[in-house]
Amino acid sequence: MKYTPSSGKIEVAGGYRGHSVYIRVTDNGSGISEEDLPHVFERFYRGDKARSRAEGGTGLGLSIAKWIVEEHGGSIQLDSQPDHGTRVEVLFPRSKRAEP
Ligand SMILES: Nc1ncnc2c1ncn2[C@@H]1O[C@H](COP(=O)(O)OP(=O)(O)OP(=O)(O)O)[C@@H](O)[C@H]1O
Ligand SMILES: [Mg+2]
Repeated sequence: MKYTPSSGKIEVAGGYRGHSVYIRVTDNGSGISEEDLPHVFERFYRGDKARSRAEGGTGLGLSIAKWIVEEHGGSIQLDSQPDHGTRVEVLFPRSKRAEP
């Protein structure tokens, strides 16, 4: 929400894929520059310093998300295009116990 204008769109989707469960969040906001992209999962890293300072934040969101996901045996992947948007996908292994 912080990186997408109020006129923009954020889509949340989820479902099963093979032996995994996915959760996908797609926005059509600012996107992430090529320069920032390799660093966004680092603790306290914030892209585009001037703008991100005005918007507030700690630079911890994605690193905490990655940590939680990996502690649950999952993975997180981020794709982004500057000025077009960002897609984050989280994959978790399906629990054997939850299967019928
Ligand atoms: N959906 C997004 N669209 C564009 N840029 C993003 C997006 N998510 C993260 N970023 C970029 O990646 C950087 C790191 O993101 P992260 O979520 O870790 O921290 P943050 O959003 O700055 O602060 P917070 O701790 O409040 O989440 C951000 O500063 C921003 O530049
Ligand atoms: Mg964040």
